[in-house]
Amino acid sequence: MEIIIQPDSQHASQIAARIVARLVREKPHAVLGLATGNTPLQLYRNLVLMHRESGLDFGGVTSFNLDEYVGIPPTHPSSFHSYMWAHLFSHIDMTKDRINIPDGLAADIPAYCRFYEQAIRSAGGIDVQVLGIGTNGHIGFNEPSSSLSSRTRIKTLTDESRLDTAAGFGGHEGVPTHVITMGLGTIMDSKICLLLAFGKKKAKAIAKAVEGPVTAMVPASILQMHPRAVIILDKDAASELKMADYYTWVYEHKPDWQKH
Ligand code: F6R
Repeated sequence: MEIIIQPDSQHASQIAARIVARLVREKPHAVLGLATGNTPLQLYRNLVLMHRESGLDFGGVTSFNLDEYVGIPPTHPSSFHSYMWAHLFSHIDMTKDRINIPDGLAADIPAYCRFYEQAIRSAGGIDVQVLGIGTNGHIGFNEPSSSLSSRTRIKTLTDESRLDTAAGFGGHEGVPTHVITMGLGTIMDSKICLLLAFGKKKAKAIAKAVEGPVTAMVPASILQMHPRAVIILDKDAASELKMADYYTWVYEHKPDWQKH
C-alpha cells in the first residue's frame, strides 16, 4: 500500500485528482469506479475545474458507481444518482450511456447484480476505483463481516452507517435499510484502488485498515492484499497510524518518476 499523508483534505484531493486526470489523459477510454459521500467532493470539484480550465476530456470515459440505496428512485435528492449528477456528471462531458450507477429499483435484484458485474467486465474492468471509508471500516457498503471475496449484491446497512447518512433522509428512521453495492472481490479486481479519508472521525478505521490484521470485520483491510492501493489521508485521519513518520518520509523521498 502507498500511504500519502497531507496537511489537509484540499491537498489530498489535489493528488487524487492528478492520479485520475493522468489516467484519463493517458487512456481516453478509461473506466472509473466512483464513490459518493462527503469524502470525494473536493476530488470531483478538482476534476470539474480541470475539465473547464484545461480541457480534461471525459468524452470516452466509462464509470461505475459503487452503490445505491434500494427502494428509492434515482430522482430522490439523497440518492447516489442525484449526488453524482449534482457534483460531477452535470459539469463534465461524460456521455450518459457510459455512466453506470446501480439501479435501486431493480425488480430482480440478484439478476441485476449479475448484470452489473458483467457490465464491468465487458467495459474491460475498472482502472481506478475511488473509495471512501466508513467509521466502521466499510468500503462501498460492504459492512463488517462481508465476505472478502463478495461480488455486487444487496446488503443490509448497519445502524452506524444509517446514522452517518441520517441527515439526507430527515433522520435515522428515514434512511433506507438496504443497498446494492459492489463486493470486496469486485473492488479488488480494479487495477488501482484510491482510498481517501479525512478527519479525526476516520482515524480509528484507517489505523485498523492499514496497520491491523486483514479481517472481514474491517472490510477496508482487504486493500492490504491489493497490488496498487493508494491511501490518501489528511493529518487527522492519519493521526492513529503508528508508522505515519515512515509513510511521510517515503512519500517525500520518492524518485521523480514515481511522483503523482
Ligand atoms: C459511498 C460509499 C461509502 C462511503 C463511506 C464514507 O458511495 O461507498 O463507503 O465512501 O461511507 O462516507 P463519507 O465520505 O460521507 O464519510
